[in-house]
Amino acid sequence: MAEPKDLEGFIRSGSPEHLLVRRLDFSRLPKHVAIIMDGNGRWARQRNLPRVSGHRAGIEAVRDVVECSARLGLRVLTLYAFSIENWKRPRAEVATLMALLKEYLNKELANINKNNIVFRTIGRFEELDPSVQRELRKAERATAGNSGLLFNIALSYGGRAEIVDACRALMRQARDGALDPEQVDEAEFARHLYTGGQPDPDLLIRTSGELRISNFLLWQIAYAEIWVTETLWPDFRRGELLQALVDYQKRRRRYGGLEAEESPAAHPPEQRILV
Ligand code: FPP
Repeated sequence: MAEPKDLEGFIRSGSPEHLLVRRLDFSRLPKHVAIIMDGNGRWARQRNLPRVSGHRAGIEAVRDVVECSARLGLRVLTLYAFSIENWKRPRAEVATLMALLKEYLNKELANINKNNIVFRTIGRFEELDPSVQRELRKAERATAGNSGLLFNIALSYGGRAEIVDACRALMRQARDGALDPEQVDEAEFARHLYTGGQPDPDLLIRTSGELRISNFLLWQIAYAEIWVTETLWPDFRRGELLQALVDYQKRRRRYGGLEAEESPAAHPPEQRILV
């Protein structure tokens, strides 16, 4: 499958990034890429700057990765911007993060629309400051008619909280007689997650070298490939995203079953044993 036209002018021909693009098989891109953006604080500390300078610098990385994902033709990108646990940070840091988010939306909304991106929030939305909620709703409404990349931003998000929220929704339906508990299977459960209706992440990227999941998309990453880089988030750019995609395409995904060449030829896929 050919390189998408949208990459023209974004990835310079002959650049190291272009060499990575040429190694990609565009018919096998991950449908959903999720990223744990980590290392803003360390980036700032290395420069003797306050932590919030790291968050500010991280916005440039967000811009680059979002636009690159849209131009590549990815279907879904989810960025972990603020966890439920992040509420424990000093008030001033939380306030700055929220202010940066509003600033990002104000400055970037036109570009998000230009790139045909659908913007959505996942997480405990009602816990956010009303002024932040307003900006987020505005961006969601303004991009709802687009048809390109779905960009989820996880805010006041926790994977366990999401599972609890899905349970509550299902139990309310059962209480009201609208649902038979015996009918709840994995697909029905997944429909009640914040990401209901979206494909699960195929690729999970984490920056700054930590080997943790940090309560991110716990249900959805059951079979995701994990790719970790030592790069701190503010230094992350399209080149590393492309490298992650190239590496992802070298992985052999088995979903607990057998690889195609190992499985008996007469064995149709639907009969293979899947864990
Ligand atoms: C982790 O770094 C990063 C965060 C908690 C927030 C991520 C926020 C941004 C990238 C900027 C704002 C985002 C948007 C979408 C406008 P850390 O502070 O935990 O770093 P450390 O582990 O080095 O201390």
